[in-house]
Amino acid sequence: MFDINKIREDFPILSREVYGKPLVYFDNGATAQKPRVVIEAVDRMYDSLNANVHRGVHYLSEESTTLFEEARRTVAEFIGAPQKEQIIFTAGATASLNTVVYSWGEKFVREGDNIVISEMEHHSNLVPWQLLAERKGAEIRVLPFDDNGELMVEKLPALLDERTKAVAVTQASNTLGTRPCLKPIIDMAHRVGAIAVVDGCQGVVHGGVDVAALDCDFYAFSGHKLYAPTGIGVLYGKMELLEAMPPFLGGGDMVDRVSFERTTFAPVPMKFEAGTANYVGAIGLGAAIGYLQSLDLKEVEAHEQALLQRATTLLEEIDGLRIYGHAADKSSLVSFNVEGVHHYDMGMILDKLGIAVRTGQHCAEPVMTHYGVTGMCRASFALYNTMEEVEQLAAGVRRAVGMLR
Ligand code: ALA
Repeated sequence: MFDINKIREDFPILSREVYGKPLVYFDNGATAQKPRVVIEAVDRMYDSLNANVHRGVHYLSEESTTLFEEARRTVAEFIGAPQKEQIIFTAGATASLNTVVYSWGEKFVREGDNIVISEMEHHSNLVPWQLLAERKGAEIRVLPFDDNGELMVEKLPALLDERTKAVAVTQASNTLGTRPCLKPIIDMAHRVGAIAVVDGCQGVVHGGVDVAALDCDFYAFSGHKLYAPTGIGVLYGKMELLEAMPPFLGGGDMVDRVSFERTTFAPVPMKFEAGTANYVGAIGLGAAIGYLQSLDLKEVEAHEQALLQRATTLLEEIDGLRIYGHAADKSSLVSFNVEGVHHYDMGMILDKLGIAVRTGQHCAEPVMTHYGVTGMCRASFALYNTMEEVEQLAAGVRRAVGMLR
């Protein structure tokens, strides 16, 4: 049974206070808090196991390398990757997506090609493509969403042609919560010979993913939103694409033979892991996934959806409050504004009540442009949040409105 009190005890930070009030942490979309098992896994690395991976014949290096490669296997199994070598450890989703763009994109995108990006993408699945298009003389085409926050998939066929090289789409919008139905989008991309690149940052944490079933070509996510340490991310790719791609960063560990005349490269995934890997972060990510797998993920999803429903109901009762994003399939976050109230002022008053929300553009400025706003407040829920906290949020918003209007 899903025991919220027991789960909360697993996250030490949740028992702290801010301004003398219990912390209500609703900024999980920006970064999630860490369970004790993750903190302990990281501590153990530095306490008793620390050594660089893939480099030493000594005991600690062997042990560290074994744990690092086990973490790779854990990630592969968690997201349904057929082979563990398809998991590349990066610094985060931004680094993963830039690896696709700089490595695959530099080689395969040419002048006159086009790339389709959804209007609800986070900047990290938008700006790298835009930079590539500028370098190459390629075109960016935008797949729009409607005011409800649903991606207008019916408009995709008209955007695709034989010069479409990639379709970049999110598994879950960090601002609207929308979880587009990805499979038809990916299939349409493949029918014109394009690849499908999925940003899984906000999706993998709410409901997981099966990359093989989706048949996406690349899938990127960050560890820190998945209860793992910061500075670790994942790029999954189809093996034939990873093998065809040149390395992005050069350095140690990604080579086979090096001379001044010619360098040959290590096989995938090490070809894309130049320099000392964040092996502590990767092992922490393995521990975070292990923690999630110790829970019933269907119950976690049901709990998070219940929080979302309650928050939506309570917030919509507030006069002048508008929620952005009412997609039929929505992950557990709610972005909103209240008429006559600046989102920063709202965020600051909620903060003084002990409630952490995100304010601003959420690195998704085109979404703000769509609705004609300069920013939004966003409460994003995690498995450890409670109904009482959601009620405190609604009461806090009411109080802020009373003070600010
Ligand atoms: N991309 C993160 C967010 O949505 C930081 O808040």
